[in-house]
Amino acid sequence: MQTPDRNSLLRELKNHLLFLKDAGYSEIPCESDLFTDSVSPSNSSPIKIMTDNKKANSLIEVREELGVCTRCKLSQERKNIVFGSGNPKADLVFVGEGPGADEDEQGLPFVGRAGKKLTEIIEKGMHLDREKDTYICNIVKCRPPGNRDPEKEEIAACNPFLIQQLKAIQPRVVVALGKPAASTLLGRNVPITKERGTWHDYEGFKLMLTLHPAYLLRAYTIENRKAVQSDMKKVLKELGLPLPSLFLVNVLNIMKMMLIAM
Ligand code: URA
Repeated sequence: MQTPDRNSLLRELKNHLLFLKDAGYSEIPCESDLFTDSVSPSNSSPIKIMTDNKKANSLIEVREELGVCTRCKLSQERKNIVFGSGNPKADLVFVGEGPGADEDEQGLPFVGRAGKKLTEIIEKGMHLDREKDTYICNIVKCRPPGNRDPEKEEIAACNPFLIQQLKAIQPRVVVALGKPAASTLLGRNVPITKERGTWHDYEGFKLMLTLHPAYLLRAYTIENRKAVQSDMKKVLKELGLPLPSLFLVNVLNIMKMMLIAM
């Protein structure tokens, strides 16, 4: 196995600290002699972990169990493990396919073009805050080289961690983004354009299927945008959250465009 270089280690450390911050930690334990200049011997006992968050704790345990994972061959070419980000107590979890180049670089999910689209759907479309109201992860946590589809064995190696993540978070709704995520979660080949907008059960969680934001960008049609809006409306309704008026405005815009085209 390759030894990670200093920059990769620093990046992993930064992402892990961000992850702990997201999880509600304000302090972490460390050896006091790391700070011999500033810490007097009288307060040199180890610092206690500060958290009041049981669920967040178990998400941290999942991350720790994952470790510097080499369970499948995706570990050989990845720069960073992309575990997930957002609120560890979120009612709403989005599950995508796998990290792309930007995600691999930063160690965070959905930060590239498709990520911007997803943020837009969450924030402009649903009037939610991506970081505070949702948690986002993928069916595989390392980038498939050249953005190929993740293979069966790779998905199988990562799947126990996805299940454990969801069990730690206990969301009220999980949304599968696109065919690979939907097919993995349901354990069968899902024709996503046919089955999007429908509710399912995944390990006891309510599961909504919708189109992947990257697909939406590729096929940016009124029909596809309306489809995702309609799916997200169902999610908001299930969560008992208000339906943003943007949905109405968009429908009006669509009608206007149709009138102009006629
Ligand atoms: N596409 C995905 O499915 N996941 C990401 O994290 C980014 C792009």
